[in-house]
Amino acid sequence: MRPPDRRAGDAPAPRTEVGDPPAAAAARPPPQDLLVRLYALPPAPPAVPGVTLRRPIGPEHGLVADWVAARFGPGWASEAGVALGQRPVTLFVAVEGGAPLGFACYDATARGLFGPIGVAEAGRGRGVGAALLHATLDDMRRAGYAYAVVGAAGPVDFFARVAGAVPIPGSWPGLYAGLMRPGAG
Ligand SMILES: CC(C)(COP(=O)(O)OP(=O)(O)OC[C@H]1O[C@@H](n2cnc3c(N)ncnc32)[C@H](O)[C@@H]1OP(=O)(O)O)[C@@H](O)C(=O)NCCC(=O)NCCS
Repeated sequence: MRPPDRRAGDAPAPRTEVGDPPAAAAARPPPQDLLVRLYALPPAPPAVPGVTLRRPIGPEHGLVADWVAARFGPGWASEAGVALGQRPVTLFVAVEGGAPLGFACYDATARGLFGPIGVAEAGRGRGVGAALLHATLDDMRRAGYAYAVVGAAGPVDFFARVAGAVPIPGSWPGLYAGLMRPGAG
């Protein structure tokens, strides 16, 4: 099953995952946006052996978008497509053995918003997510942002641990209020 997609338009409703029993969705706390101080980013985590982080180039864009769609759904693929359309591209991909292992992007949902970020299930727990998060936030800093907002963050502790992110009170549903959904209407 796909991981939580609390933000994108492919979820049946906010706070509901595909295949989630309604009780489970209701029991989860609502997501929140997080604030990251880019001028005080913690030091970069160690590189992951055999994994390269970089912006995909043109011939790879379709492959990356398909990879995101297959693992994380059409909403995240839509956001990845926006980031791939920016110049310079605001999406980073982790590459291992000639294939994507994870991705992260910004300026996709709105200016200054980080996300989404995702690592292939089999590749989690190796530091790839931390490396992607840090590289992408550092690119935001170099682009001139002082702060990044993580939109509708799922694993808050991941963002807090790697980037010192803190919750923004009252930020749900925030920007996502009234999100159009497939099958609605
Ligand atoms: C969240 C995600 C990107 C993390 O990627 P990862 O490669 O497994 O993360 P890392 O191995 O780099 O972990 C870095 C640190 O964060 C911690 N961490 C990772 N996932 C976590 C989670 N879900 N909750 C809390 N802490 C987490 C790790 O324990 C590690 O801590 P440590 O440095 O103290 O050991 C990955 O689990 C994922 O793709 N999840 C599904 C998509 C998702 O929810 N994206 C976020 C949308 S807002």
